[in-house]
Amino acid sequence: MCGIIGYIGLKKATPILINGLLRLEYRGYDSAGLSTIEPGGLSIMKDKGRVKNLYKLDGIDDLVGTIGIAHTRWATHGKPSKENSHPHLDNSNHFAVVHNGIIENYNELKDFLIDNGYTFYSQTDTEVIPNLIHYYYSKDSKNDSQRVLRAVQSACKSLKGSYAIQIISTYLPDNIIVAKKDSPLVIGKGTEENYISSDIPAILSFTNEFYFLDDFEIALIERNNIEFFDLNLSKIDKKVKNIDWNAGSADKNGYEDFMLKEIFEQPISVRETVGSRLTENENCCFDELNFNKEFLLNINKIYIVACGTAMHAGLSGKNAIEKLCKIPVTVDIASEFRYRDPIVDKNTLCIFISQSGETADTIAALKLSKSKNATTLAISNVVGSSITREADYSLYTHAGPEIAVASTKAYTSQVVLLELLAIYFAEILESYSFKELNNIKNEILALPSKIEATLKCSDDIKNFAKQIYQEKDVFFLGRGIDYNTALEGSLKLKEISYIHSEAYAAGELKHGPIALIENGITVVSVITDEQLVEKTISNIQEVITRGAHTLVITNKNLPTNNIDKVILIPDTYTLLSPILSIIPLQLLAYYISKEKGLDVDKPRNLAKSVTVE
Ligand code: G6P
Repeated sequence: MCGIIGYIGLKKATPILINGLLRLEYRGYDSAGLSTIEPGGLSIMKDKGRVKNLYKLDGIDDLVGTIGIAHTRWATHGKPSKENSHPHLDNSNHFAVVHNGIIENYNELKDFLIDNGYTFYSQTDTEVIPNLIHYYYSKDSKNDSQRVLRAVQSACKSLKGSYAIQIISTYLPDNIIVAKKDSPLVIGKGTEENYISSDIPAILSFTNEFYFLDDFEIALIERNNIEFFDLNLSKIDKKVKNIDWNAGSADKNGYEDFMLKEIFEQPISVRETVGSRLTENENCCFDELNFNKEFLLNINKIYIVACGTAMHAGLSGKNAIEKLCKIPVTVDIASEFRYRDPIVDKNTLCIFISQSGETADTIAALKLSKSKNATTLAISNVVGSSITREADYSLYTHAGPEIAVASTKAYTSQVVLLELLAIYFAEILESYSFKELNNIKNEILALPSKIEATLKCSDDIKNFAKQIYQEKDVFFLGRGIDYNTALEGSLKLKEISYIHSEAYAAGELKHGPIALIENGITVVSVITDEQLVEKTISNIQEVITRGAHTLVITNKNLPTNNIDKVILIPDTYTLLSPILSIIPLQLLAYYISKEKGLDVDKPRNLAKSVTVE
């Protein structure tokens, strides 16, 4: 989705802004632009297409301003074009604005402004913002240092919808003003300089100290001072947070793509996520939670709510919690949950999973659960992200920054964290054999080395990818916990190879999809659950009989005679197998995308963090 970068300091802003935009490219966008405060007024440089095209724009090299705002746009209102790109200026050219989010009442505001003599040059919802600021500025008779701030305050009060905005103005030549509601924004604190961004990794090479703006807050940023206000312009005391990610973790480190690097980082990301939560012969420990037996006994059901890959991680969480804790768990898609009027009350525990912690639907689902008095628990990879600020309790995966749009290491970290959570609950509830729990815990500690072993299938998968990369349809099958992996494997393939793929519970094959199986169709199956081996094998035979080309990911010794390719992965406890069995499927999607010559890290139409509905 759209990305925001801002700089205020002593250096030339333009190269820093463009460099920041390049680091935000992974979020997905179709146009880019920037504005700086120049001696002669506000500069505007923008166009549709890639960030690097900005370097080609006439006059970009002449910019000397040390204060600027920049943006990558992911079109919502109005097609990708120069006019619709951000920044947008007000009619008097005194205010430049970049915006992430959607202004829902923009038609109403536009009519109001047109009635007041304003003209619009784009089809965007954003263009109302600079004009609204100008409108309030010109109506304000008090000409003091807070006049621009008051105009921004009034504009924000008029906006409905979601926004993270940056404003620069010739009337306030030493400041950037930012404001936020329901869209992410962080401020990186430097020495004699400050940075603004939609997310942490883009400015991690400049600072480790961040302020997280909350909804309905405004910040007035100077080179060496930042003031925070609420929407009534009362001052807020905000604490800086230290983020311990290192800048190198947001680089490719010699890998061709971020996705490949992140796939190969999984032994570390899983180890880091387990961290001190699990030590041999000790009970599972979550310092962040203070759940006791009485509280857990009162929980009558658990909802796990998320989007995309995070939702698939939730499915494995359901398997673990239901098996070990005997509490019913419903996994729901956040965009469905929020409009379903779900049956949630004070005895419901709602768990929200989001790598970014900024997904609009997941945040809305969380707010809904809170309004129904549920206990809310956020699982995120980003310290200080919106869901963690909103939820009663927060747990972090420690996967490090995930840059590729297709999620890999965040997924396996989410699954392992949910397994640990299930064990933690089961130990408190005494709902499962302690001996068995200890076996699972030992298996969790062995996962990093088993992931290393699984990654050795990379060349075999690459060869298989070469055989099938021109396919039009691929089917993924699995039963029980392997169905979760099939869903995630299918999503990975769609996301980055643009091949149509479907995941089916293998038992459903006969109820429709088998009609689509014909000579040459590729069917990928996952088999890790001992109890379901025979059943899934029968389904595979059915597709082989109909001419399918088959790949099987398994940790069992299967009769392999007529299967085209079997990838043998290390054995583990069934509940943990999704952490290993997904790896060959991540690699399959990756190598198919590479064979097709596609941009693996930035697939078309997709965004890393979906901050609008
Ligand atoms: C987008 C991303 C997916 C991700 C999903 C949820 O669709 O492309 O990779 O799984 O959002 O994101 P979240 O940050 O909430 O986990």
